Order: sequence, then structure tokens, then C-alpha cells
Amino acid sequence: MSGGIFILSGAGLSAESGLKTFRAEDGLWEDHRVEDVATPEAFARDPELVQRFYNMRRTQAAKAEPNAAHQALARLQAEYDGTVYLVTQNVDDLLERAGAQKVIHMHGALKDAMCAACGHRWPAPMEMHVTDPCPACGTAATRPDIVWFGEIPYHMDAIQTALEDSDLFVAIGTSGVVYPAAGFGQMAQQLGIRTVELNLEASGARFDEVHEGPASRIVPAWVTDVLASQNT
Ligand code: APR
Repeated sequence: MSGGIFILSGAGLSAESGLKTFRAEDGLWEDHRVEDVATPEAFARDPELVQRFYNMRRTQAAKAEPNAAHQALARLQAEYDGTVYLVTQNVDDLLERAGAQKVIHMHGALKDAMCAACGHRWPAPMEMHVTDPCPACGTAATRPDIVWFGEIPYHMDAIQTALEDSDLFVAIGTSGVVYPAAGFGQMAQQLGIRTVELNLEASGARFDEVHEGPASRIVPAWVTDVLASQNT
């Protein structure tokens, strides 16, 4: 049995499915400043603006199709002779729709709604409003189940365990500037795990191996190599 493979993905994985990455050159995110739409303070100040922003992202994500990189990662999870941990910062469900069986969404998911009052979660309708009552406690404090800036990412214990169970760490399509995910590569190195980056352009962080190019090309090629080498 091979050791686990820990894959950390970011917005670059879904870019070729038509979903914009975050750090565009103008510093704006779909014409909004991040602090106006992706912080608890923004939600407290103007909840309907935040809901409209995520309603738009939810609609875009629902229309998007998985690309060859999502499909290759689902194939790796199915065919690799060991555990493939798919940890993503992405809030879309394109890995699942490509056939991945288990995906750890550390920044939440567009498909889920959450009650800001009691923490109950339920499947989000395409159009959400802050006045929607919580099905569990009835409070009108509905928010997207998304980890905003200043909030604590989900599944950190499971992520630590997955890293310790792995002997290969692969970062795909992430700029590596948002913590804690940005520190996973360094944690892997401290654990003696080999590190690989697959990105359109190298992020500049230290990796043992870097492949540059669009995810839809370099991820399937890398997966084919990994699966071929386990059979030799
Ligand atoms: N193929 C591969 N990589 C790509 C592609 C592509 N087609 N297009 C862009 N990239 C790379 C960019 O070079 C960049 O390194 O994807 C990365 C995207 O970086 P960001 O936009 O910063 O996205 P990400 O790293 O996922 O952001 C992390 O920040 O805003 C928050 O919570 C949000 O989860 C997000 C987190």
C-alpha cells in the first residue's frame, strides 16, 4: 500500500471552468472589494449585498462544468493504491461533480446555507436572502456557509491527520497567500513530505518540484505519471 497523497487546490483548478480566480490584477473580485463582500463585518453592515454576491457566485458555479483537471483528480482518487485526500479552498462542487468521492471543503460550500444564530446547516436555494427563516430555530439570520476572512477554516483536525498520513503534498492552482492553507506546504516539509506545485505560474513558495501550465493540461499529465509509476 502506498502512502497518502495530500492535494490542496485553489481557484486556479476551476479557472478553466469559467470561475474567476480571486487575485485579479485590479485587486477586485467580480467588481467588489473583498472586504465589502467576504467578511463577517460586511455581512453585518449590508447582508443583502453579501447575499446577492454569493447568489451570483452560486449561479455561476451551478452553470460551470468540471474540467479535465477535476476529472483527473477524481480518477486519481479512484485508481491510486492509497488514500488521496482532496482538500480544497474552493467553494464550488466541481470535484464532486467530476466524480470525487470525498472532498474536504476548508472554506465552506456555496451549496450550503447556515443560520448565523444557531449554526444549523441546510441545502442552499439558488437565491438566498437574509430574511429566510432557519428551518431549525426560525431566526431570520441566513448566511452562506462560507468561511469569510477572519473566520476559522473548517476541518483543521482532519487536515492535520491527512497531512500526517501522506508522503506527497501537491498544491494546485493556489497563490499561497491565504493562511492557514498557505502554511500547509511548509508543514509538509517539516514532516519530511515531498512537495509539488502545479500552477499556471509558480507561486514563488519553496517546493521540491514545480510544473507550470494550465491545470487542464498539467494535472491530467501529472496524474497519468503517478498512476503509471505505481504500476511499475
Ligand atoms: N491553471 C492553473 N493555475 C491557475 C490557472 C489555471 N488555468 N489560472 C490561474 N491559476 C493560478 C494563479 O496563478 C494563482 O496562483 O491559480 C492561483 C489562484 O490564486 P487565488 O486567486 O489567490 O486563489 P486561491 O489561492 O484559491 O485563494 C485562496 O482566498 O479569497 C480567498 O477564500 C478565498 O479560497 C480563497 C482563498
